[in-house]
Amino acid sequence: MLRITVLVSGGGTNLQAIIDAIAAGDIHNASIVRVISNNPNAYALTRAQNAGIEAVCISPKSFPDREQFHKALLQAIDEADTDLVVLAGCMVVLPAELISSYRGRIINIHPALIPSFCGKGFYGLHVHEAVLERGVRVTGATVHFVDEGTDTGPIILQKAVDVHDDDTPETLQRRVMEEAEWKIMPQAIDLIAQGRVRIEDGRTRIDQ
Ligand code: GAR
Repeated sequence: MLRITVLVSGGGTNLQAIIDAIAAGDIHNASIVRVISNNPNAYALTRAQNAGIEAVCISPKSFPDREQFHKALLQAIDEADTDLVVLAGCMVVLPAELISSYRGRIINIHPALIPSFCGKGFYGLHVHEAVLERGVRVTGATVHFVDEGTDTGPIILQKAVDVHDDDTPETLQRRVMEEAEWKIMPQAIDLIAQGRVRIEDGRTRIDQ
């Protein structure tokens, strides 16, 4: 059984998609053991509680410095006996120690087709604003492993989504979530739970 800890910061619709996919049997052999939010007001915490999952807030504001916050975060992930860390709308820059301790065992969902519209400053609605400003016709979402860079780790799954002429950042965000994020995040977790994802020479290979 793959033990998953999910890190969140906001609404938690991706968390909900994972919860629902486990309940529906679309993700096999995995369970969410803990949800951690840096934001005490994140609705994702309520979603976790509603699903009977342990939900904790670890806010940087509760610690005297960044180091103590990082220590507490790593400890909370270790204590849950975590096999896979899933970043589902997590807006915290992860400590280097966490990335090295869980190398190849942290995944993130990004709301664009990496390497477009990613890196520093590209998160949440800002991504969709930039997509509309540039006028691309196709965007999408990417699930990737997390390394030391911003959105630079090996790509696991991607899905394209059409941009419409009358889109606002909000309508585009919603379509990218519905058509891409909520599908490829559960799919990627299921592939990992089945032991079908390998990293080779900085790229992922999915065993058939
Ligand atoms: C999602 O669109 C996710 O892709 C994005 O934040 C949103 C969180 O929504 N993540 C990033 O931008 C990370 N760089 P949610 O809380 O409803 O899942």
